[in-house]
Order: sequence, then C-alpha cells, then structure tokens
Amino acid sequence: MNVSDTELVETLLKKQGHQKVITPDEADILFVNTCSIREHAEDKVHSLLGRYNLLKRKNPSMIIGVLGCMAQSLKHDILENKSYVDIVLGPDSYRRLPEILERHQADEKSAVDTKLSKYEVYDDLFPNRKDGVNAWVTIMRGCDKFCTFCIVPFTRGRERSRSVSGITKEASKAVDQGFSEITLLGQNVNSYDFEGIKFPELLSAVAQVPGVRRIRYTSPHPQDVNEELLEVMRKYENICNYIHLPLQAGSNRILKRMNRTYTKEHFIQLALKIRDYLPGAGISTDIIVGFPGESDDDFEDTIDVMNQVNFDSAYTFKYSPRKGTKATEYDDQIEESVKQNRLSRVIDLQKSHTLLKNEAYVGNIEKVLIEKQSKRNKSNWTGRTDSNKWVVFDKSGYDINDIVPVLITESRGITLHGKISKKIRAA
Ligand code: 5AD
Ligand code: SF4
Repeated sequence: MNVSDTELVETLLKKQGHQKVITPDEADILFVNTCSIREHAEDKVHSLLGRYNLLKRKNPSMIIGVLGCMAQSLKHDILENKSYVDIVLGPDSYRRLPEILERHQADEKSAVDTKLSKYEVYDDLFPNRKDGVNAWVTIMRGCDKFCTFCIVPFTRGRERSRSVSGITKEASKAVDQGFSEITLLGQNVNSYDFEGIKFPELLSAVAQVPGVRRIRYTSPHPQDVNEELLEVMRKYENICNYIHLPLQAGSNRILKRMNRTYTKEHFIQLALKIRDYLPGAGISTDIIVGFPGESDDDFEDTIDVMNQVNFDSAYTFKYSPRKGTKATEYDDQIEESVKQNRLSRVIDLQKSHTLLKNEAYVGNIEKVLIEKQSKRNKSNWTGRTDSNKWVVFDKSGYDINDIVPVLITESRGITLHGKISKKIRAA
C-alpha cells in the first residue's frame, strides 16, 4: 500500500515540476512514507529520519517530510523533538502536498495535517508507476474491522471504496503503459462496496478490461471470501489462481480475542473450499505468534491449522503491541523468549510445507510471467507462476512481460527452476 501511495505522491510532485533524484543527498525535498504496523517498521523510520537529519545539517534548506501511517502518532514527537521535520501528512492529506510545499517555501513554517477523511480515495489521480510488470491499483482505503492487534483502522481511518469506472480506467491505462499484471489493493479488499457493487463484481469488471493479462488482489478477510468470489476467480483465465488468506491464529479463543470473527473450523473449511473451486491454487497467509494470552495449547492450534491447510507460504510475525489498540490493554502479554521460540517453530514448519508444495511442481509445465533478470545469473529470467511461485529459467530469447510455458525441473529452497518448454509464445 505504501508503494502505491508513494506513486500517488510522485504524481502530485511531478505535476508541481519536481524531479526525482537517485540518492537522498542530492535531494532538496525528502519524504519518508511511513508504516506503523509493527514496532520494527517504526524503528526503521526513526533511524532513517536520524540519517536525513545529518544530511539536512549539511544542506539546511532541505525540506524533510513524514508521510503516511506514522504521521499521526509521531505528530507531537516530531513537533517537539524532531524540529528538522518540516511537513507531516497523514494518508488522506496527500492532495495538500503541492500547496503545503509552496507555502513552506514562502514562510518556512512547519505544516501538519493528519486529518482522516471518510471520502478520499484519490480516484482521479493516476499513480506515477515505475517500469515493470505489475501495476498496483488501490480499490479501497481504510479498515472498519478493528482486529484488536491492528493499528490500521486508527492510522488509515474508515473504509471507503473507489468507483468501478475509476478503477477500470486506471487498469486500462496501466495496460496501455505496458503493464501485464494488475494487483488490486486494499486493507480489506473484499469489504469493497461502491454504490452496492461488491468485490466479486468489481473483480469481474477488471478481468474484462482489454489487455489485462493477470490479476491478483491483496488482502481479503477470510470472513468475506464467499462462493461468488471463488466463482469469479474460476471463470476468468486472467485472474490468478492464488489467494492470500490471513489466518493470524489457530485457536478459537485467541481468534475471538483478536476480533477476527471466524473460527479455526471455518478457516480450514474455507481453505478446502478454495482448493475445491480452484484446483492447484496457491494459498499464502499471515500468522501472528505471542498474541496476549496465547497459551501453549492455543499456539498448538496455529500449528494444527498450518498442518491441515499446508500453506504455500506464510508471513510470520511476533505480536507487536501498538499503542491505542485494544490488545495492548490485555494484561497477559507474552514474554519475548516465548514469542521468539514460537516464531522459530512456525518458520521452520512453513519452510517444510513450502518445500513439499514446491516439490509437487516438478514435472509441471507452468505459465510464467517474466518479471526480471535473475540476480544470480544474468542469462536467466525470474518470473511467477499463476499460483505465485517464483521460477528461474534460461532466457531463450524471451523478454520481460512475456508469459512463457516453463517445464519445472527442480525445486531448490523457496524457488523453482525450469526450462522453457516450447518455443512458442503463450497467450
Ligand atoms: N503485531 C504483529 N503483527 C501484526 N500485523 C498487524 N498488526 C500486527 C501487530 N500488532 C500483521 C498481521 C497482518 C499483517 C499485515 O501484519 O498478520 O495481516
Ligand atoms: Fe488490520 Fe486487516 Fe484487521 Fe483491518 S482486517 S484491522 S487491516 S488486520
């Protein structure tokens, strides 16, 4: 989401005549687009700001701005302790950027705007995308789910959806600019609701935009993944056979305390249903360990779901208390060493599942969208399968943005290796 928001900000700055530079020390204006999701993300911002402060000492006219989710929580800290920060703007205030920059140049006063909006979706602003294969297209902003561990509803505000026509227009423009893949983005994509049009209908509208070769979306909430959505995914060839389905925890007691609104049983049934509707679909997940009150037995439920579902991959996190969220008030916080042990266990288990899942691909011919040159070997491409697996293979005269049939010959680590199976261009 921040990559996508940064592209919006770039559009605004470009319109005002600013240009992008390569390294921070060349810049007259430096923005940090921030994330508050875990403490680690915030720590990174603090250290980056420290470094930018040193640059500003060498170049005192440099303007430093803090954008995005940390704007609100940092507002006071910044005004009191970080006087070198000139501009603080929350995620709904980017439109004000040109005006604020202009004003700052005139009076050099610091400017702060962290108001959240019920309406802002930046519908008419086309992001300034980098070359590549994938175009992020934001379809909704904010979140009303209020999972008790999560800061997003506070930093990004209420849910609101962008118009279907704004979204399809942007997808079409991305196609014209050469992008092959569209990833629909939102904190909670399947809460999408624009004048009664829900996510499955939107997805099918995007699938019909001429020239869109691949569509992904992230992230859905398991509670709202329904048969209508799976039907749409099954119907359109260009919607990828892949779902990111955040589990968070396996224990019903913890899920309830997290306010996740589904049970372990529901989640497992849903994963089975997805595989039923979409054979071979890749399923990835997010898992939090060490949520307040998580007992050894609760944790074993998470392990149990992992063993039953066999995720293709997982993003795993230690619970990180976020000020202002409900879970920080629970008085049974888990010790760091317990969190660390649990994290190591889920990482190891996931590695073994990923390996098993990947080994099953050996011998398959997969359609791979070529994304970039392999870092290890200049004569190889890397790209992703429909189900979101990375594959490395010989270049064989093909190019970035081609979709090619690749025979999977080997599964190594988390990556598949293969060779082009036929010298024809796949659709
Ligand atoms: N601590 C740890 N992980 C978190 N996430 C969100 N909030 C927290 C937190 N306080 C994770 C969830 C979410 C992903 C984007 O980040 O797993 O799905
Ligand atoms: Fe946070 Fe996602 Fe829950 Fe919304 S649904 S509160 S973004 S974890």
